[in-house]
Amino acid sequence: MTASTSSHTPVRVTVTGAAGNIAYSLLWRIAAGDVFGPEQPVHLTLLEIPDAVRAAEGTAMELADSALPLLHGVDVRDDQRAAFEGVNAAFLVGAKPRGKGESRSDMLEANGKIFLEQGAAINAGAAEDVRVLVVGNPANTNAYITYKAAGDIPRDRFNALMRLDHNRALSMLGQKLGASPAEFSKVAVWGNHSDTQFPDITYATLRGERLADQVDRDWYTGEFIPRVAKRGGEIIEVRGKSSAASAASAAVDHMRDWVHGTDGRWVTAAVPSASEYGVDEGLVFGYPVVGRDGAWEIVEGLEIDEFQRPRIDANIEALRGEAEVANRLF
Ligand code: NAD
Ligand code: LMR
Repeated sequence: MTASTSSHTPVRVTVTGAAGNIAYSLLWRIAAGDVFGPEQPVHLTLLEIPDAVRAAEGTAMELADSALPLLHGVDVRDDQRAAFEGVNAAFLVGAKPRGKGESRSDMLEANGKIFLEQGAAINAGAAEDVRVLVVGNPANTNAYITYKAAGDIPRDRFNALMRLDHNRALSMLGQKLGASPAEFSKVAVWGNHSDTQFPDITYATLRGERLADQVDRDWYTGEFIPRVAKRGGEIIEVRGKSSAASAASAAVDHMRDWVHGTDGRWVTAAVPSASEYGVDEGLVFGYPVVGRDGAWEIVEGLEIDEFQRPRIDANIEALRGEAEVANRLF
């Protein structure tokens, strides 16, 4: 699976947590061609824990009933080694969601071990071109655990989902300024998929004009930044459950752009850091990125001012703390 070739051999895609809320939307988008393209057949493997395999089988039955032309086949598994054998793209969704009043990092204890095991299984059997997108929370540190457990695979094949934060930022800006999300350029979300994240408009434009000149500074600092950062909690409060369809949609955006590129457009992805912008090497950090030739390139050479620096640093600090906890799993 590369950006440039349209192969008619099915791409093998594994989705974990296949009986859960996010998967119920994500699987259909993948099978409809929204990620790998309208001519690329897909084979789906649905991974669940034994207690939820029956429910995942029901999901597989519904996929079959949808008669989707690109869907080449569906397997349901509870065995991780089998689930990741030959996989080209993995969406690691299966993990406990937080409830009201919990933070995403509270989930590290419950969820971290899942990613340790799945990283090892991916290492054992994945295809050479594998791409792994971690969605289960705390997503950045779970991606860190996964790539560390998959030591034979280049770490740049492991990402965490921060596209939902990016999309939320675009949507809120659009609502405020009466614009479509597509009219904004160079918006980015730095850091961790947590309340410390920093949605940043320093470099952004709207219809080619500098965005910072068009938004009220107090709204930007007092409302926009915290509301984007806390939107997941707001959804839980209102919906009673964590975001699902919007998370699936963001996962589709992320994997599609990773595979096919962004044509120079900036988006946000959490990727293993090579110390860009002072981030500890190895932390999985949200950066402005461009998709090119089937890989992400972090946008480099940006000047970081005194408003941005402490906000980026707060995320480095938070992820460093999570990594310390995660390192105890090894
Ligand atoms: P859900 O509870 O509806 O579904 C999770 C599923 O995962 C369940 O069916 C469960 O049986 C399964 N599961 C648990 N352990 C597993 C394992 N070891 N292997 C395979 N499957 C396993 O939850 P959901 O709403 O689909 O959310 C899933 C995760 O995604 C949560 O951690 C949530 O916080 C996170 N999330 C992340 C983002 C993001 O932007 N990164 C957005 C929304 C939700
Ligand atoms: C989100 O941002 O919606 C998810 O990470 C779910 C959550 O716990 O907030």
